[in-house]
Amino acid sequence: MAFVRAAKAGAVAPGSIAEFEVGGKTVALANVGGKFFAINSVCLHEGGPLGEGALNGNLVICPWHAWEYDVTNGKIVGSPDGTEGLACYPVEVRGEDVYVDVG
Ligand code: FES
Repeated sequence: MAFVRAAKAGAVAPGSIAEFEVGGKTVALANVGGKFFAINSVCLHEGGPLGEGALNGNLVICPWHAWEYDVTNGKIVGSPDGTEGLACYPVEVRGEDVYVDVG
């Protein structure tokens, strides 16, 4: 697949995260100090909406039971072997818009 327009860049302020439907997937788009990152928004625990969680630096906290993920790579914080995590998608900012390639 190719890059698909996900949101207006202004819709996700620095330090915040929001959920968008992109190419049939639910994506959590985070703005970490002006740089955008996109991961699958469905928590691996019980499917909580990560895009509705709190962003703390580059970590998003699941609103349901507080599992934490690194939005820069999708990895679960504290995963025993450091490999467990969610899909992380390429992001491009084009003008006023943020594009995500969900693969
Ligand atoms: S559903 Fe995310 S921590 Fe439980």
